[in-house]
Amino acid sequence: MREGHFILLGATGDLALRKIFPALYRAYKDQLLVPSILATGRSHLSREEFLHLLDTKTKPHLKNLDLVLWENFTQHIEYVPMDLTQAQDFKALTQKPLHPNTLIYFSIAPEFFAIACAHLAQVGLNAPQVKIVLEKPLGVDLHSARAIHKSIAKHYQESQIYRIDHYLGKQSVQNLLGLRVSNPWLQALCNHDHVDHVQISVCETLGVESRGGFYDPMGALRDMLQNHMLQMLALLTMPLPSNLDASSIRKAKLSLLQSLKPLDDQAVRHQVVRAQYSANDALVGYRQESHVNPQSQTETFVALKLEIDRPEWVDVPFYLRTGKRMGGSFVQVVVGFKGDNSLVFNIQPNPTISLSLHANAPIVLQSALEGGMDAYQRLILDAFDSNQSAFNHQDELEAAWVWLDPILQAWQANETPLYFYPAGSFGPQEAFELIEKDGRAWHTTGTHHV
Ligand code: BG6
Repeated sequence: MREGHFILLGATGDLALRKIFPALYRAYKDQLLVPSILATGRSHLSREEFLHLLDTKTKPHLKNLDLVLWENFTQHIEYVPMDLTQAQDFKALTQKPLHPNTLIYFSIAPEFFAIACAHLAQVGLNAPQVKIVLEKPLGVDLHSARAIHKSIAKHYQESQIYRIDHYLGKQSVQNLLGLRVSNPWLQALCNHDHVDHVQISVCETLGVESRGGFYDPMGALRDMLQNHMLQMLALLTMPLPSNLDASSIRKAKLSLLQSLKPLDDQAVRHQVVRAQYSANDALVGYRQESHVNPQSQTETFVALKLEIDRPEWVDVPFYLRTGKRMGGSFVQVVVGFKGDNSLVFNIQPNPTISLSLHANAPIVLQSALEGGMDAYQRLILDAFDSNQSAFNHQDELEAAWVWLDPILQAWQANETPLYFYPAGSFGPQEAFELIEKDGRAWHTTGTHHV
């Protein structure tokens, strides 16, 4: 059983209430963690008022809630109102001696990272036993990602910084690497001799919901592709490190990200499709969502084709697509082998790995991979254990931005059209053409018709 001190910045925010507190509660319930939790937020709430907020906003997200355990859990929580821009407010975080395993979780907008780090450091909360967990977005392009990092690195070493990509905490995503490591036959097949192409789809039926203000300056490329999708791609295709320690895994992912073939203007025009959802009979279009600019040019869908400049992947195309308000919700990684066979990693909702052999029904190799723990729970426990293997290194982030910046710049210069797709569909016709002009098609399964 671990013990640790958890300081949460942004404790009244949506992410904290919907994901972080449930994760802490489950870790407590599973007897994996006894945390002392110091929740902070701008709102001037008493401890009782904050616990009431948890009752109304967090409890509904907990399945099989054990009320007695919940009561016990909440006894470990204190609340302190805090304005991140006010240095004196940070003194409240140091009332007790510094715990040897202290985690500070930044569930706040990145524009507050620099000031929060500086103020934390002023009260000694950058001592070596302190680790910080940072939520994305860590920048909107290479330049801003570097600037954010610079302000953090003034006060914290890389070994103290845990950059969350919650997809890396999903068991089914970790299996992309796990399966390669434990199955040499698969590893032997994963190269251009045998693989025809690879597809990664992250489709959501949800629209932007109440997050228009956050999403409109971001878009799908930054929100999903820069992080979750490129990370899944890296786990599947990176050279297998001989050691599976955090540093070797991170270096292998980095080398893969650095070998993505750069897209020039012409490639952006021909290989990248951006689109935005429009209204259908039942649902409003993106531009009508609240806090969204009615003339917004932001993409809620992107599909692209890329190549990896490594000998084992020569001439193998990778097709990636993601979108909101699509016709189904699923995350799928498909390795299409030559001769019509394919290996499908269903990441969610029902994690399975299945092999489709030519003219036969798919064989399910492994199912129910999720193993109980949710991504946030797993990642918070990893951070308490000082295990950085499922967290991103700054160099990985920068490598991803180096590759993505030309796309963003071409879009900004309006060099490619923004297409539209009706809410509830699987994207614009151009996204189908992107893959069909190469004689291939987006994967369909019995449950997910596209
Ligand atoms: C987040 C994005 O990182 O991932 C959201 O900001 C998206 O826009 C979410 O909905 C998807 O996560 P999951 O775990 O529900 O697939």
